[in-house]
Amino acid sequence: MKSDKALPRHIAIIMDGNGRWAKRRMMPRGFGHREGVKVIDRIADAVFSRGIGCLTLFAFSTENWKRPEEEVDGLLDLFKKYLRKKTPLLAEKGIRLNVLGDTSVLDAETLALISDAYEKTHGLRAGTLNICFNYGGRAEIVRAAAKLAGEGREITEQSFSDALYTAGMPDPDILIRTGGEHRISNFLLYQTAYSEIYFTGTLWPDFTEKELDEILADFAATDRRYGKVK
Ligand code: IPE
Ligand code: IPE
Ligand code: MG
Repeated sequence: MKSDKALPRHIAIIMDGNGRWAKRRMMPRGFGHREGVKVIDRIADAVFSRGIGCLTLFAFSTENWKRPEEEVDGLLDLFKKYLRKKTPLLAEKGIRLNVLGDTSVLDAETLALISDAYEKTHGLRAGTLNICFNYGGRAEIVRAAAKLAGEGREITEQSFSDALYTAGMPDPDILIRTGGEHRISNFLLYQTAYSEIYFTGTLWPDFTEKELDEILADFAATDRRYGKVK
């Protein structure tokens, strides 16, 4: 197979701006979150149909528990609905669905849905969709270090990568943040060392395939030097 360096292997997205999108429409924040879930399908289809193997989405951070209870409950509920509805559809398309983050604190019903997604999709190879839920980059790094120390293993860049939630996956070539903020908000801190970062003011519910294609075109024209001189 021809290797195409112009095509990323892995795209990661901080899906931000749902709340503001709703507020502009004088609607509750939950309305924006529901609209945001619809965009996931469109963008995931676009990513996989362009031959990009891996998509990682930031859905709920370890800090998002600090939001009002009503909003947190709404997000947990949307996540459950997403897993219930999408697992069979992703399985049909051959997409592997992973949930990355500390899922141990989630309720039994959600845990069962996560296990079901794993069982139905873990062998599939048409693409990998990672949903980061109760995910924090620092927590992930500390967990990996504790894991290696607990097993008495040597700590190298390779063993460390393999102890992260993203074990075995390529690092993201592209990190996109919608919603206009220029920050990482504790997302994939280890894995984004050499990612090309795109910040867009577009609010997540307004993000389109067209804008994704513009980012892909810019990426294809980018000189990735990795510290070297060209
Ligand atoms: C991103 O949208 C979704 C989550 C963090 C769950 P926000 O809810 O952060 O939307 P804004 O940033 O308040 O507009
Ligand atoms: C980052 O967005 C987390 C997710 C998209 C899930 P936030 O809206 O929580 O980030 P901050 O608070 O603006 O840094
Ligand atoms: Mg936000």
